[in-house]
Amino acid sequence: MADNTVYRASTTAPVNIAVVKYWGKRDAKLNLPTNSSLSVTLAQSDLRTLTTASCSATYPEGDTLILNGEPSDVSGARTQACFRELRARRAALEAADPSLPKLSTMPLRIVSENNFPTAAGLASSAAGFAALVRAIANLYELPASPSELSLIARQGSGSACRSLFGGYVAWRMGEKADGSDSLAVQVAEASHWPEMRALILVVSAAKKGVSSTSGMQQTVATSGLFKERIATVVPKHMEAMEKAIKERDFATFAEITMRDSNSFHATCADTYPPIFYMNDVSRAAIRAVEQINDAAGRTVAAYTFDAGPNAVIYYLEQDTDIVVGTLYSVLGAGIDGWKQSIVESLKQPAVTLDEAVAGLL
Ligand code: DP6
Repeated sequence: MADNTVYRASTTAPVNIAVVKYWGKRDAKLNLPTNSSLSVTLAQSDLRTLTTASCSATYPEGDTLILNGEPSDVSGARTQACFRELRARRAALEAADPSLPKLSTMPLRIVSENNFPTAAGLASSAAGFAALVRAIANLYELPASPSELSLIARQGSGSACRSLFGGYVAWRMGEKADGSDSLAVQVAEASHWPEMRALILVVSAAKKGVSSTSGMQQTVATSGLFKERIATVVPKHMEAMEKAIKERDFATFAEITMRDSNSFHATCADTYPPIFYMNDVSRAAIRAVEQINDAAGRTVAAYTFDAGPNAVIYYLEQDTDIVVGTLYSVLGAGIDGWKQSIVESLKQPAVTLDEAVAGLL
């Protein structure tokens, strides 16, 4: 008898923000990086992608994807790589146990929503591919660990491999040509350092000018500084960062976070032609963090910037008043409404700062 069942599974995946940045591919097809990286997963925040994967022999069309309510192309190499890897693992299970329904041969329907506004100006590919891979893995009942799934999510988007874990997550660059050792591992659980907080200052919600994918390719091809970054700077940062996390040493965590962001943006400026992700407002946010640390007489806040102008500020719960209070008074009324919402661990409200920080320039 024909199997008319619709099989379905849902999951969510959180955003992660790197404190040691991934920037550069040594193999663009397998999405293998030129350096290891480390991030903090904003697991208890509202920044998540919710994805439902279903499959059925009755679906008339081939594989489909609806992203935030809009039909989206599934023919891209990255999405195809994820589908192919997941189907191959399901097919192996079906071959071993013929009583299993043949899900690997059925068309897939993926429906994915970000529960954060696109207007927050945040990259969503990390949470997006992590949720897509986990939803299909759940649908196929694959007995895969998060690290195994990270190998697949990495092929969707590099940073996505880190969103399969909570807490503090390293993406080990690996050495093998087939990428089988380029995966994410958890360095520490979120509960290891529950006082950690992150605040996102949305400088601009506009889509970034140069995508990460093409920006990093240009950097690899043209920047001399980049060679120094991957050979000596990042390995040193990775080691110091893992130690700082293990010892809950915020001053070191913060210094490495800021230095690594600065180093990454310096290689962007050293790219030819140069790439600028930060703008005057971003630099004003850096000055504000410096002022806060100077005034406190110790390092209580750290900034970091991805491939765009928005700042992420890390700080500890006990320093909320100094950090958020000072940002609040320095940056003004534009950030009203989020003060109470930072109570939860790593809850990071989005704030529009365009005009609020103008006075700091
Ligand atoms: C600056 O993961 O978006 O955010 O692998 O090409 O999809 P692709 O790149 P992506 O790059 C993220 C770059 C970054 C740093 C980081 O998250 O580590």
